[in-house]
Order: sequence, then C-alpha cells, then structure tokens
Amino acid sequence: MSAAAASTKERVVLAYSGGLDTSVMVKWLQLERDLDVIAICANVGQDAEDLEWVKQKALDMDAIYSDAVDLRKPYASRILKKAVQANALYENTYPLLSALSRPMIAKYLVDYAHKHGARYIAHGCTGKGNDQVRFETCIHALDPEIEIIAPVREWDLLTREQEMAWASEHNVPVPTTAAKPYSIDDNLWGRAIECGVLEDPWNEPPADIWTMTVDPKDAPDEPEYLTIGFERGVPVSVNGERMKYLPLIIKVNEICGKHGFGRIDMVENRLVGIKSHECYECPASLALIRVHQALEQLCLDRDTQHFKHQIDQRWATLVYDGLWFSQLKEALDAFVESTQEFVTGEVRAKLYKGSLTVVGRRSDYAIYDYGLATYSEGDTFDRASSHGFIELHSLQSKTWSRKQGPGARRAAEGHDFEQF
Ligand code: ARG
Repeated sequence: MSAAAASTKERVVLAYSGGLDTSVMVKWLQLERDLDVIAICANVGQDAEDLEWVKQKALDMDAIYSDAVDLRKPYASRILKKAVQANALYENTYPLLSALSRPMIAKYLVDYAHKHGARYIAHGCTGKGNDQVRFETCIHALDPEIEIIAPVREWDLLTREQEMAWASEHNVPVPTTAAKPYSIDDNLWGRAIECGVLEDPWNEPPADIWTMTVDPKDAPDEPEYLTIGFERGVPVSVNGERMKYLPLIIKVNEICGKHGFGRIDMVENRLVGIKSHECYECPASLALIRVHQALEQLCLDRDTQHFKHQIDQRWATLVYDGLWFSQLKEALDAFVESTQEFVTGEVRAKLYKGSLTVVGRRSDYAIYDYGLATYSEGDTFDRASSHGFIELHSLQSKTWSRKQGPGARRAAEGHDFEQF
C-alpha cells in the first residue's frame, strides 16, 4: 500500500511553482499543520523551469501527489478569448495578465481538491497583493466549503535569509542562484515586474527587466505589417494564416516583441488600498485588444460602442478584483458576447520601433458605409434631411436661450456679454 493510501491525515492542495516560497510550504504544511500535501503546478504559459522536474521536486519532499498541468489551451480559449472581446484593460492600461490567470488556476485547484478529498487549499501569495484576494475569492465562489491556508500571512519567515535557513534545516532544496531583484509573474498574456528599484516611481525601469520585448531603439529599422483576422470578436488568423488561439497568441507575442511593442509603466490602484508602481510587457495582449477595438469601431453602432466601453471598464475592474466567478461578471459576459456577433473581419497594423498603429480594417458586416461617408462621387447621404434634424436638435437650446440664457439676458440688458 502506498504512503498516501495508508495516511489518515487531512489533505491540502498547494498551488506550487517550484520556487523557494512554495517549496518551503510543502514541508511547512506537513510539519506545522500535519497535512498531506498535494502539490499542483499550473502551466499558464509562464517562462518556468521544466515542470516535470518541478513536480518531482515536490514528490522528493514527500508530497503525496504532484502534477504539472498544462492549462494553456483552456486559459486561451475560455479566458483570454473573453479578455479580447471585452477589451480588458484595468485603469485603461493593464491587460490583467495576473488577474486572468488566477480563476483558471483556482478552478483546477478546486477540481484537484475534490478529486483527492482535500478540505484545504494553500497558496503562496503575499499578504499585500491582489492575487491572494483573487485566489481565495475564486476558490470560495467555486466551493464555499473549502478552507484556505496562506502560509505567507502566518509564518514568521520574514526574510529570504530566514526562509533559506528554515529550508536547509528541513531538507528543502534551496536555490543556488542569487535572489532575483524583482517580483515577476508571467504567462501567455504578458509579464508583470515589480519591486526592487521600481518601488521608487521616479526611477526609469532598468533595461534588464524586459525579456519579451526588445528595446525599441534596437528594433528593426523597417516596419512590419501584421494582419489579424477575427470571427465574432475572436482572433482566428495572423497574416491570412488560420491558427488556433494558443499558437496565435504565441506568434503575436513574438512578432510584436521583436518590434519592441507592449511595454507599460504605470502606477496602479490595488484592491487592497495600496498604490504600486508596476511594469508590464504585453505584446500580444495589447496588440490584440487594440486591433479588436479597431474592428469594433467598424462593426458596432454608436450607442452599442459607447455603452460597451463602460461595460468593458466594469468587466476589467471585476476581473481585477477577483470576481471572475460572480453574478455580475456572468451578466456582463452575456452582454459582451451578444455584441460580438458581427465583429468579424480583418485589421492591419504597422509595427515600428515600439509602436503599433492600426492602418486598415475591413469587414463584410461593417456599419461603416462608403456612400454615406464620402465627400466625393457616389455620395448617397441626403443633405437636405440635416436641416430638419438640426432644427429639432437645437430646439431646446433656443427655448432655453430665450427664457433664461444669453437671449433672455441680452433682451433684459440690451447688450452682449461674456458667456463662457
Ligand atoms: N499588479 C498586478 C495585478 O495585481 C500584477 C501582480 C503580479 N504579481 C507579481 N508577483 N509580480 O494583477
């Protein structure tokens, strides 16, 4: 009989990355909480060590079960698809890469907990960030009975040195490389870089923080055109070649990164009340959202486009706040989905030294009408009808002016006066 089957201990599913924090947690949960540990490592497209090796590392520390699960396809097709349709940019800037990956991972952690009869889920998020809120809120939305353990909020291993010392005392392999100067989270949707010298928002980000994008000054001297095809608001082709969404994202990251497009430097409002200086590089996510917006400009009518912009912002804030699995988010999803029915067509963009400029768009469903728009031959717009339209549109201005506004004052005082 295996050790796992023989054990009568309660179980915890740990979101495991293979790094120092979560490795220490494998042992800490066993020793301090007397739990059997199931270590799950989720691949959402991060630039990680070999995940099979990470899984083995957990087993070597007596995890009763470990798995490295490739979530890149469902992450792309279920989550990043919606992110593009909703033009998801928190505070009009940040494409939400960390916020979007957490519900995906949370779903799998809950599934593993159910499969293995675990009552607890543990994660390695710090006590000051958004990600702890997102993990726990998503997990509780999926299963309100699961209990969360956040060792970083409880243990007294406050410095890396203390953690390293605890690790070597308890046979947890310690990293041989120096501590990285930044805190990094990355996946298919981009890369987040914080801490270190970035904690002073006056500091220009050092060149070494960027890995997905070249410095725009070193980008090719010739521009490159990139054409993205969409069906119902979902990207389906690159430069005329049909592609599944996962390889499409990877390819767009590559092309845009080569031209130095996708760098963001912002001060962001965290949910927990802290402002933080954040740098992101998001070649594919920013590019796909930009070109999707350009196609919406062609295919949505004015009211829908304006209203959707507000919905998009609300959607982004909900996702930022960890409310992926929530009533309002589901309702907004339905609205967004319904607006995408005719967002089908192509957008052409030009990449050049850090910039992406939309230079063309076309759709069989375009509401844009050449006959109505043109000032040349072929004009179909009935100019005469504008007269009556403006007559009614300005009627309230006229009546207000006569009774209370400039017209009334002129009549009373007998002269013109400053109106602004
Ligand atoms: N501020 C971003 C967010 O809350 C990114 C957090 C990324 N985490 C990190 N360890 N760098 O979504």
